[in-house]
Amino acid sequence: MLSLCMQKRLFLTRVLNNSRFFIGILFVFAFQILFALPLAEQFRQVGYLEICNEEQGTETFDSLYACFDEFIEFLQINPIWAQKLYIAKERFIRSKERNFYSTNFFGFYDESIRKGRNQIAFYYSTHFHEFISSQYREFNQIPQMKRFFEACSEVQKPCENLFNEAVDELGLKTIFDSTYGKPPILFKVIKYFPSYVATRPHYDGTALSLLLDSTDHQSLLLSAYQPSYNVDDFSSPQRKYSRSQKQTSILLIPGAFLAEFAIYPTPHIVALNGIIRYAAVAFAMRADYTSPKIDFSPLPDFLIE
Ligand SMILES: [Fe+2]
Repeated sequence: MLSLCMQKRLFLTRVLNNSRFFIGILFVFAFQILFALPLAEQFRQVGYLEICNEEQGTETFDSLYACFDEFIEFLQINPIWAQKLYIAKERFIRSKERNFYSTNFFGFYDESIRKGRNQIAFYYSTHFHEFISSQYREFNQIPQMKRFFEACSEVQKPCENLFNEAVDELGLKTIFDSTYGKPPILFKVIKYFPSYVATRPHYDGTALSLLLDSTDHQSLLLSAYQPSYNVDDFSSPQRKYSRSQKQTSILLIPGAFLAEFAIYPTPHIVALNGIIRYAAVAFAMRADYTSPKIDFSPLPDFLIE
């Protein structure tokens, strides 16, 4: 009888141990799900979230930059068209669609020969595109412009879902509520020339920014938000996805327009690298928004230190 009791007890002990093992596995599994770093905490700790762009490879961005070069060349050879584009932009920022983006940055900014700046940027938005196509039909006859606008339109498309998912995760779903029913996305393509000189990091005037791609990741330096900074606080994020593997690495960072929700902006800078660098960035703006005056932590001067 005693030996039978012992056997039963041993059997029960094994069952109990096995159960503990499986409960343990379940607990670890649940732990990983429940305690995966929330996005707001990820921003607080490192300042960014890296996302793999599964829809657009490096070829898409290389083709966008090639279209941008063609467009730049056309406008530089034909300044009359650059002037027409500027007039169109001036009219657009007086339209009601402008308020969806709460900014006056649209169109072409050629600072290629301005000392230190040495860059050319284009700010694209779907409403600006529609405005030009309908109000300035002569632009539709310019193949360089048509191709560049269509490339911008394609590349910025997946950003809508990414921004929606991000605000959902942050618990700020209503931030993009507007009559247009989608986030106000301002898409920027930039070409930095070798003589470009970085001076000071900046905070983006956005709700969120997606640093979609660049031809040189190493020169982008950032820091998580801190009460004070020095130059050494800024570094190039380690990437899981790389251009050399034909993968596009996106960085999602918060801008200055979420401070009321205790989400503070990630300062960043494109440091001097002495080469031509292209980059594509998508900004999530806030409709009908006037930014309150907030004194964020002062940023260090990269030229002095
Ligand atoms: Fe920026």
